[in-house]
Amino acid sequence: MKKRRTFIFACTGSDCKSNGGKAFAEAIKETINEKPFRGKFKLVKTKCMDCCKSGPVVVIKNELIKKGDLEQLVKELAQE
Ligand code: FES
Repeated sequence: MKKRRTFIFACTGSDCKSNGGKAFAEAIKETINEKPFRGKFKLVKTKCMDCCKSGPVVVIKNELIKKGDLEQLVKELAQE
């Protein structure tokens, strides 16, 4: 079976948005469109994921990335 792109779920709820969620989602988009990640990931914007105090948050492979930690996310991307 062909391997599909890995989904990255980024919260765009109001609390995450006010903590910089929009800029975080843009940074993720730029990152996954660059080599060596291009074509391997799909960013999906979601509603509130009930982790508002840790926002902005993203979920990748059932792993919650808190506080807009792009460095941790890139580590997760590199493991794919
Ligand atoms: S607003 Fe993002 S987790 Fe609630």
